[in-house]
Amino acid sequence: MVSRRFRPGPDGRLEATCPRCGSLERHRFLSLLLGALAPDLLDLDTVVEIAPSPQSTPLLDRLHPRQRISLDLGHDKRAVDALASLTALPLRDASVDLLVCYHVLEHVPDDCSAMREISRVLSPRGIALIEVPIKGGVLTDEDPSATPDERARRFGQSDHVRWYGDDFDDRLLAAGLSSARVTPPTLVGDAAVEWFRLMAHEVVWVARHGTAAATPAVPGGSGLSAAFDAVLADLARTQDRLVRARERADRLAAQRDALRTQPAVPQVRPRADVLTRLRRVVHL
Ligand SMILES: C[S@@+](CC[C@H](N)C(=O)[O-])C[C@H]1O[C@@H](n2cnc3c(N)ncnc32)[C@H](O)[C@@H]1O
Repeated sequence: MVSRRFRPGPDGRLEATCPRCGSLERHRFLSLLLGALAPDLLDLDTVVEIAPSPQSTPLLDRLHPRQRISLDLGHDKRAVDALASLTALPLRDASVDLLVCYHVLEHVPDDCSAMREISRVLSPRGIALIEVPIKGGVLTDEDPSATPDERARRFGQSDHVRWYGDDFDDRLLAAGLSSARVTPPTLVGDAAVEWFRLMAHEVVWVARHGTAAATPAVPGGSGLSAAFDAVLADLARTQDRLVRARERADRLAAQRDALRTQPAVPQVRPRADVLTRLRRVVHL
């Protein structure tokens, strides 16, 4: 049996890496988020992934788009369909139904151009899932001319040109993207955050065309288009389903702990049907 003991992450974060598939916290949360958005991700034409990872690409393939295109500038030598910059995407206007861009914008000196490109290529029904490192309570700190040492100190890595702050949503809006933030505890609850070893403070921006003011974290969504409100409603419904699954898992864990104190029972495992349901959500 494969151990479920999670390994440290690239920067030494404890319990970050899945021992089986190598996913990090953000990849596992992406899997849950795509599950939540599934009703809006049917019959997809073009899905684009910027800077793909071996853990996220299979999640997008499961959506069965007619075509999936991966792009990267080439710094990390990752396998992609084409080398291209996010600031000049080789894609037609309004041609992309889903675009995933995780941990790229903080590397891009002209991030406003990159955001406008995302807005340009999204189809009318298109959704972008965007993640960047962010600090709350401060504005973005950026300096493309900072030396590598200074970048590492100020922005967390020598190849980052900024550390985003509270104005990130406004930057998206200025590029024509209306967005809602979603975090793991908001979507799946604290017990699932613990079970899937997610990062509670991780933020994903679910963005699409729009000029509405920046929105509160999901659930919510006042001021958004009806279509976007429907996406948020789906997220809330999925959260309810996951909360119920979590409550069942908690009950089973309590039963298991109780049984552990009885020496006559040699081995106790959570119920297979509950685990099967959970594993359908994330491939642990
Ligand atoms: C931290 S890695 C991405 C990690 C990956 N998306 C994940 O979630 O595991 C950053 C990537 O951004 C790419 N990159 C940097 N600037 C870019 C640009 N202007 N256009 C496209 N990709 C860029 C780098 O080449 C690198 O592969």
